[in-house]
Amino acid sequence: MSKKIAVLPGDGIGPEIVEQAVKVLKALGCDFEMEYADVGGVAYANHGHPLPEATLKLAKESDAILFGAVGDFKYDHLERHLRPEQAILGLRKALGLFANLRPAKCFKELTSASTLREEVVSGLDLVIVRELTGDIYFGTPRGRRTAPDGNFPGAPEAFDTMRYTVPEVERIARVAFEAARKRRGKVTSVDKANVLETSRLWREIVHRVHDADYADVELEDLLVDNTAMQLINRPADFDVVVTENMFGDILSDEAAQITGSLGMLASASLGDGVALYEPSHGSAPDIAGRGIANPLAQILSVEMMLRYSFGMGEAADDIRRAVTEVLDAGWRTGDIKDAETPADKVVGTAKMGDLVVEHL
Ligand code: IPM
Ligand code: MG
Repeated sequence: MSKKIAVLPGDGIGPEIVEQAVKVLKALGCDFEMEYADVGGVAYANHGHPLPEATLKLAKESDAILFGAVGDFKYDHLERHLRPEQAILGLRKALGLFANLRPAKCFKELTSASTLREEVVSGLDLVIVRELTGDIYFGTPRGRRTAPDGNFPGAPEAFDTMRYTVPEVERIARVAFEAARKRRGKVTSVDKANVLETSRLWREIVHRVHDADYADVELEDLLVDNTAMQLINRPADFDVVVTENMFGDILSDEAAQITGSLGMLASASLGDGVALYEPSHGSAPDIAGRGIANPLAQILSVEMMLRYSFGMGEAADDIRRAVTEVLDAGWRTGDIKDAETPADKVVGTAKMGDLVVEHL
């Protein structure tokens, strides 16, 4: 049966890396129907809104979403509800994509590309399970007003609201424990329970779910500031890290960077229906259109799509194998090369896509 994929390239390097991922999808020879739509800044430019109705409709009707990236300095002047970022936030909310899986793995071939010492990052293989539709990102009320109290009563102020309900914490905790069972059996739950009410609830519920249904999984609690430190200190000790939306945003960038493979990391956003797959890096507008961006994270997001949305484990393994072979053969894009990479092994976006297709 034909699967429909919504292809949303977006801004910056999005279009050029998505093109490579689409090449790979086509090379698999399966019956995929791909339909493109504008999203992010380009959608604002063409249709006056970062997430046009037609794009959302397509996303809802599809079996999976291949998302590139959104954001460009060009749109920095826009009001918040028109900014490109609202497209991805809107999709997460409208599609109920509450679980964001962000694997951070140090590819053996790339240990020398990390800014940390090789012996620290070698073996790094963790996944951040980030709650994606709650927390201060979406909490209301929010806005601007005259401060009713605080340090400067009567002064103009801005405010956001951090909120979590019990079922929101329960369902994300389950995703983390299930993931841990398929991995090394350890969950680190990250919060700020020494200060925040939401975090105290978070910790209580994670433990309740654990004790009731996942006692076989090892569970540790870690405060978010300490986690930021331990990720640099002993990154290879982490297996599954489950955390609130905002903390997950910050820690996932940190985890991705220390692998030295930021351009290699894919992510999946899952809910109860259609899922969305995107690279962990952003739109990199500074290098957009130059054909030098690394398409591997986008290609590996196809791997995740095949695995999680289509149950095509073998095809997913094939993509991973092809990517590994290309790296083993020494091919690098600019972001993952090191001092020893010969100049003739440094390739651009399209060539990297072609190499993966050849190895498939
Ligand atoms: C991410 C991004 C988004 C977020 C932005 C683009 C809204 O940083 O996916 O991590 O903050 O969630
Ligand atoms: Mg982020």
